[in-house]
Amino acid sequence: MTQPIAATLIRGDGIGPEVVGATLRVLDALGLSFSWDEQLGGQAAIDETGDPLPRATIESIRARKLCLKGPLGTPIAGGFRSVNVTLRQELDLYANVRPVKSFPGVPCRYENVDLVIVRENTEGMYSGIEHWVDRDHSAAESISIITRTGSERIARYAFEYARREGRKKVTCAHKANILKATSGLFLETTRGVAREFPDIRLEELIIDNMCQQLVKDPTRYEVIVTTNLFGDILSDLCAALVGGLGVAPGANIGHHAAIFEAVHGTAPDIAGKGIANPAAEMLAAVQMLRYLDRRPEADRMEKAIRAALADAGSRTGDLGGKANTARFTDAVLAAL
Ligand code: NAI
Repeated sequence: MTQPIAATLIRGDGIGPEVVGATLRVLDALGLSFSWDEQLGGQAAIDETGDPLPRATIESIRARKLCLKGPLGTPIAGGFRSVNVTLRQELDLYANVRPVKSFPGVPCRYENVDLVIVRENTEGMYSGIEHWVDRDHSAAESISIITRTGSERIARYAFEYARREGRKKVTCAHKANILKATSGLFLETTRGVAREFPDIRLEELIIDNMCQQLVKDPTRYEVIVTTNLFGDILSDLCAALVGGLGVAPGANIGHHAAIFEAVHGTAPDIAGKGIANPAAEMLAAVQMLRYLDRRPEADRMEKAIRAALADAGSRTGDLGGKANTARFTDAVLAAL
């Protein structure tokens, strides 16, 4: 008998338990055996332990090297530090990989979008060095740290990903015209890595132009590599091009562990109503199966999600449909 796949499970806050629960139903139906170690993070962890990121959660992921996670709430302007950012830095999950694909039938601006954002996940504006300059809180400063090592490994990840997936172009989104040292180092390092991959073309775009080019024609892009904050913003922009946050998955990958989650947050405006779109979390599980080299199961699951999204009767409210989370999930299970 094959061993169950050991992984940490964090259901998360807000709509997290709803979309994670739906995803587990589909994973169960695939016939794969998982041994889940349930751990807490975010508000749920504060309520139970007083700590938004208990040590046990980090240790569980470190031991199992794999985690499926729901979104975690972060207080805005104050309160505790983002648990997501801390997890990514603690576990050195340096590559944030967010595929953006259009889905036949889903109302959106573009068809045939198939790009992936490879975002540096541990440095830049999210380095966590931020403070008030004076006692009156009339000025604040934030320090963005970019290293050659950090830039090199994310650029190499992007080029290796492109080669593995048969892509021909990597686009580096930067702001090296203004941020000459930090963004300049990122660009220059990416150029150096590109020279090792003569079969893949490096394209360079300043981030503001990148945004307008993506809105005008996202089908021109294959792999986009960029720094932390730019990648965070670009991924929501790209999600909106193919239907929105309800269909945007993401992976946080390091050399020793990986966490799979939807791009979206806790969606407090719809939490607890049973109407959230679980497709993004399900697609994150598909990414997880590919990472585990379970390609046949990943392909089956993705096909079933696509079939459910293509049917107007099973689409959730964010995609203009009338179905709830359970009905969408039933449609995925039926398609399996
Ligand atoms: P959000 O992604 O939670 O919501 C933005 C909008 O999209 C809302 O109108 C929401 O209803 C809608 N939406 C998001 N996911 C949806 C889904 N699956 N189905 C249907 N509609 C969906 O972003 P917001 O409001 O900026 O953040 C809320 C909280 O989530 C914050 O505390 C933030 O820090 C946290 N967050 C956590 C993330 C994570 O854990 N990876 C990522 C992004 C935000």
